[in-house]
Amino acid sequence: MSNWDKSGWRAKPRVQMPEYTDQAALKAVEAQLAKYPPLVFAGECRRMREKLAAVSRGEAFLLQGGDCAESFNEFSADNIRDTFKVLLQMAMVLTFGAKVPVVKVGRMAGQFAKPRSAPTETVGGVELPSYRGDIINGFDFTPDARIPDPNRMLQAYTQAAASLNLLRAFSTGGFADVHRVHAWTLGFTESDEAERYRDLANRLQDTLDFMKAAGVTDTTNKDMSTVDFYTSHEALLLEYEEALCRTDSTSGAQIAGSGHMIWIGDRTRQPDGAHVEFCRGVQNPIGLKCGPSTTVDDLKVLMEKLNPNNEAGRLTLIARFGAGSVGDHLPRLVKAVQEEGANVVWSCDPMHGNTIKSSTGYKTRPFDSVLREVQEFFDIHNAEGTIPGGVHFEMTGKDVTECTGGVQAVTDENLSDRYHTACDPRLNATQALELAFLVAEEIIQRREPQRVAAE
Ligand code: PEP
Ligand code: CO
Repeated sequence: MSNWDKSGWRAKPRVQMPEYTDQAALKAVEAQLAKYPPLVFAGECRRMREKLAAVSRGEAFLLQGGDCAESFNEFSADNIRDTFKVLLQMAMVLTFGAKVPVVKVGRMAGQFAKPRSAPTETVGGVELPSYRGDIINGFDFTPDARIPDPNRMLQAYTQAAASLNLLRAFSTGGFADVHRVHAWTLGFTESDEAERYRDLANRLQDTLDFMKAAGVTDTTNKDMSTVDFYTSHEALLLEYEEALCRTDSTSGAQIAGSGHMIWIGDRTRQPDGAHVEFCRGVQNPIGLKCGPSTTVDDLKVLMEKLNPNNEAGRLTLIARFGAGSVGDHLPRLVKAVQEEGANVVWSCDPMHGNTIKSSTGYKTRPFDSVLREVQEFFDIHNAEGTIPGGVHFEMTGKDVTECTGGVQAVTDENLSDRYHTACDPRLNATQALELAFLVAEEIIQRREPQRVAAE
């Protein structure tokens, strides 16, 4: 892109970014990161874009999920494996249950920086700067921890590199082989959902056995034994993003080397702001959160800036309005996209519009609201004749109690049992799987309304 430079964002108004006090330390970290290898490569980002282009045509479905905020403390192989396992289970439910190919994307290996609703927080009469994610400052409620420290970027890079290394190994080293479909279950999921998953896995196993016996196809080929798995995060901390930006040697294109897909948050999507400026120039697939305050005019400008050539798979609009509000906002944005003839993927984030404070004081999300927002999203796309392309969840493979409800009925009183998130409340493994079954039903119903009605 000729009129773009990776540091051009610095001349634009910025919001939600830290003020580093030690500029010399910041410069040193940026110089260090600029020398490190990129975490992802241009060819991978191009391939992901092709897959998202299929999603935009209704030929595949996007499944994006992971932590609200990855943390340095919670970093472990087990945590990565368990989130990956649930995503594989969910993808299996969608692929085998709803018969659609699934583009699998983790909010992983880079999801460290957080926008906050207020610059400070007050606890017991003490006011301190807000926690902004482990890549920026510390979670502990002490003045020292809350000072933005540029060296945290180096630790985030190291953790992202190690996470991605493990994810690549899981994706291609045998773990994700479809013949191991039973091995992706998690020890604690003794729920109806786990039972439903086992039934589906048995059917898949029977199918594979049949194919093998009949010699129909080679069921050990690469497509069955590996998966493509992509990473994504909010491109919030632009010093980090710029330092990892690289020029692709084959095409000359600029690529954000920090993750396959990056997205712009609901609080940082000002059309003339720093975040849009950075993201418009890199060739990765870009996500754009659309909330209740997204205007039709802004969306049109943003689509033009972020996808001037109207390439399919480049831009994913991630709708996050809140249950009961989707009908107030999504139709006008869908119409704006149609008026522009824009190629986009529509995805649904049913998390960020449904955060409430529980009676016991915890930030939570009722499972029913999450589900209702997904259903409203599907209903509106059905009514408009457009394509509900994907879902975006905050979730974990751990048996946490952060969102209320679901078949295992987490209550307000249970929230304190295992509330581990560093930021927003996540769906636990059972709730995530339950949602996958419900999404699969929505997809089947959309495709075969008569069949479902007749059943
Ligand atoms: C998020 O995805 O964690 C987030 C902060 O979302 P939003 O920008 O939509 O509020
Ligand atoms: Co969040």
